[in-house]
Amino acid sequence: MVSKEIRSAYLGSEEYMEPLKEELDKITSIHEQLVLSSALPIESLWSINTWLNPRILTIDSINDGAKQLKAIQRNWCLYSYQFHRRAKLIQEKLPHLSAKPLRFPCSLPTSPIGSWTLLNENKILASSKCSSLFKNGKVLFEENKDEPPSRAYLKLYESLTRIEKFPQPGEFCIDAGGSPGGWAWVINKLGARVLSIDRSPLDTKIISLPNVEYLKGDVFSIKPSDYDKVDWLFSDVICFPEKLFNWISLWFESKKCKNFICTIKFQSNQNYSFAKKFLEFSGGQVIHLYNNKHELTFIRIE
Ligand SMILES: C[S@@+](CC[C@H](N)C(=O)[O-])C[C@H]1O[C@@H](n2cnc3c(N)ncnc32)[C@H](O)[C@@H]1O
Repeated sequence: MVSKEIRSAYLGSEEYMEPLKEELDKITSIHEQLVLSSALPIESLWSINTWLNPRILTIDSINDGAKQLKAIQRNWCLYSYQFHRRAKLIQEKLPHLSAKPLRFPCSLPTSPIGSWTLLNENKILASSKCSSLFKNGKVLFEENKDEPPSRAYLKLYESLTRIEKFPQPGEFCIDAGGSPGGWAWVINKLGARVLSIDRSPLDTKIISLPNVEYLKGDVFSIKPSDYDKVDWLFSDVICFPEKLFNWISLWFESKKCKNFICTIKFQSNQNYSFAKKFLEFSGGQVIHLYNNKHELTFIRIE
């Protein structure tokens, strides 16, 4: 049975559906990673693509489905959870969308993409407006399997691409919890100076790069008063969200740093609600990156 009133839909990450469901009201049904709701769209922290204006199209054939979608707009991406073959045949009649991964650093795509699915053989749920500019929220990059010492660099690729702002040559960055050095590698490639702080060492390839410094120790003993000015504060430290929040608060109060990209990490079965507290920092946003694991990312840019 199809609900008559679907006012929003949220695509979650396959492994992190629980926190998404906790955030949402008036859920009418869940189809694998897609949660339908009769409430107006909210700014969900855990959704990787929110369908902002879903509507139902009644179709009488594959051609008719494609025709109705094309009449709304050009670019459409299918999320398929059933009637896969029929859905694929409709999608094949729509204009092709590039599947090329991004080459970092790059700008964001300029053409928005709508999302659609088949609720039953003759009903399409289609949303021309979506929160993500990427197909089903998947932000895929060309990977570098040789240089970075961990895959964590993909999170930083995604964060910087989303905000379309990058550390510049001459800028000074702190990379908290930086070992083994994936984030430091990205910052170094962009030409900025980076100080990585961690209890564990940096990979030898990374520590030997020019403009990369390493300080061994507890990140939380580092205070804003130790520095005159920091252009970017990056953190990927494994710690409780409360601890990260208190530490970032010191930096905010000091006004010594303008740009923040910090991973908020969760243990299993943790209470996720504390993450909303990060929205109290003016101009801040909290998002679940496609490349995040059991994490959210706090971003605040001047
Ligand atoms: C997910 S890893 C960071 C990966 C890194 N961003 C990269 O790109 O390779 C988290 C790091 O936090 C560090 N860490 C956890 N608590 C810390 C603390 N209190 N002080 C310093 N480092 C800490 C761990 O040693 C670990 O190396």
